[in-house]
Amino acid sequence: MARRSDLKSSSEQEKLHPRVMHSLHPEKVELFKSLEGWAESTLLPLLKPVDKCWQPQDHLPEPSSEGFFDEVKELRARAACLPDDYLVCLVGDMITEEALPTYQTMLNTLDGTRDETGASSSPWGIWTRTWTAEENRHGDLLNKYLYLTGRVDMRQIEKTIQYLIGSGMVCNYSCAKCIIVKLRCKL
Ligand SMILES: [Fe+2]
Repeated sequence: MARRSDLKSSSEQEKLHPRVMHSLHPEKVELFKSLEGWAESTLLPLLKPVDKCWQPQDHLPEPSSEGFFDEVKELRARAACLPDDYLVCLVGDMITEEALPTYQTMLNTLDGTRDETGASSSPWGIWTRTWTAEENRHGDLLNKYLYLTGRVDMRQIEKTIQYLIGSGMVCNYSCAKCIIVKLRCKL
């Protein structure tokens, strides 16, 4: 867990990243409001129903089956041949995927499209929640796969994820650059 002394005070954070109360001009907020009908009829139908999406379990040994341990053995035998740099890429990807709470938070700081209630019926709110739910499968699959391989230090990875989410992220939307405030990779 991050020690309190590791974290910058809120006034120090304010100096580094001045708070943006309104990231969009009112006329642009109005523009997004006027696009809600379009988002509802054009964007939302692109979302795949849950039953048509793959789930992490579709690609992992089935824990309720009798062959579970054999399947895990096979998975580990295949993973034993993976070069270290493949695993480094997978770990990096998995950690990024696992910081999904940060990305959802960032999306909900945006004027005009934020999910005002956490269960808003606006198409932007529905889109953000559904995108988050779809993305959540990626980290789940990678996490369980890497755990089963036995090739990586899961505890260090878990600590890194905790640091990453706890540190948060600052996005400068005006120049479309995202800055990770403090990413303390301790792999
Ligand atoms: Fe993803």
